[in-house]
Amino acid sequence: MTSGTHAVTKAVIPAAGLGTRFLPATKATPKEMLPVVDKPAIQYVVEEAVAAGLDDVLIVTGRNKRSLEDHFDRALELEDALQAKNDNERLRRIREAQVLADIHYVRQGDALGLGHAVLCAERHVGDQVFAVLLGDDLIDRRDPLLPSMIDIQRRHGGSVIALIEVDPDHVHLYGCAAVNADPADDSVVVTDLVEKPDPAEAPSNLAVIGRYVLHPAVFDVLRDTAPGQGGEIQLTDALRALITTPPENGGGVRAVVFRGRRYDTGDRLDYLRTTVRLAVERSDLGPEFRSWLREFVAELEATETER
Ligand code: G1P
Repeated sequence: MTSGTHAVTKAVIPAAGLGTRFLPATKATPKEMLPVVDKPAIQYVVEEAVAAGLDDVLIVTGRNKRSLEDHFDRALELEDALQAKNDNERLRRIREAQVLADIHYVRQGDALGLGHAVLCAERHVGDQVFAVLLGDDLIDRRDPLLPSMIDIQRRHGGSVIALIEVDPDHVHLYGCAAVNADPADDSVVVTDLVEKPDPAEAPSNLAVIGRYVLHPAVFDVLRDTAPGQGGEIQLTDALRALITTPPENGGGVRAVVFRGRRYDTGDRLDYLRTTVRLAVERSDLGPEFRSWLREFVAELEATETER
């Protein structure tokens, strides 16, 4: 099987969700196109994939795919206008998205769940280990996660997921994993997975986040995976089946417990926090924004003590 020996070069980004948490902003715009400071969320995700050596990117789209495709395509009229004004900085910034990666698209058709979206990538991915990146999760570029996941997959085979520790009250929002420590490695062995469990039945407070390095054996399993939680074909359920699949058939699931900075831009509050955090750190906007923010917080505190 070629899958064990080739470098991982393909990334799959499911972007066909309905974005209901962000309505009405996402009525006519995919949630992946919502700006985080001045770039759409999906561009950060593609940049992360490219930084990890994955420059063949497949975006699984649904309705409203046009703005996604346009974003990573040339914009001739805009380029001409900027050129006429000698606005080279903006020209550079719009061209960045065009040359980032080799981007392909496949349409999901029916929104049958994340597992189904990944299955739509089968023909493009073929018989190779590949990564899946969910657009809601942004991983801070200073805390790279994918390279260590790819390295773990290379050493152990099978599939690799990423977990974070969450407040037990929040575990019902995620896939949840039971794990065994491996004292000889920086990864843990996944022994069970449940999609969005009741807190009382959750095997741990370790939540699955939106980065996966998957063995292509997942496709065969997904084809046989019945709709699960929410009536959708769940990637978590397919990974659960891979836990008990023999290693020679591409089975085995390991995890990294991620302790770096991750932003959930699919959640409105977290989206606001992310925008503020990333804007504060920008060299062009940061200094002015920071001083405004200090004044704003002082004003807030003053009105709160008045009450
Ligand atoms: C999906 C996965 C879930 C995972 C989450 C991470 O859920 O099904 O296992 O924990 O992404 O963001 P969603 O948030 O799409 O409902």
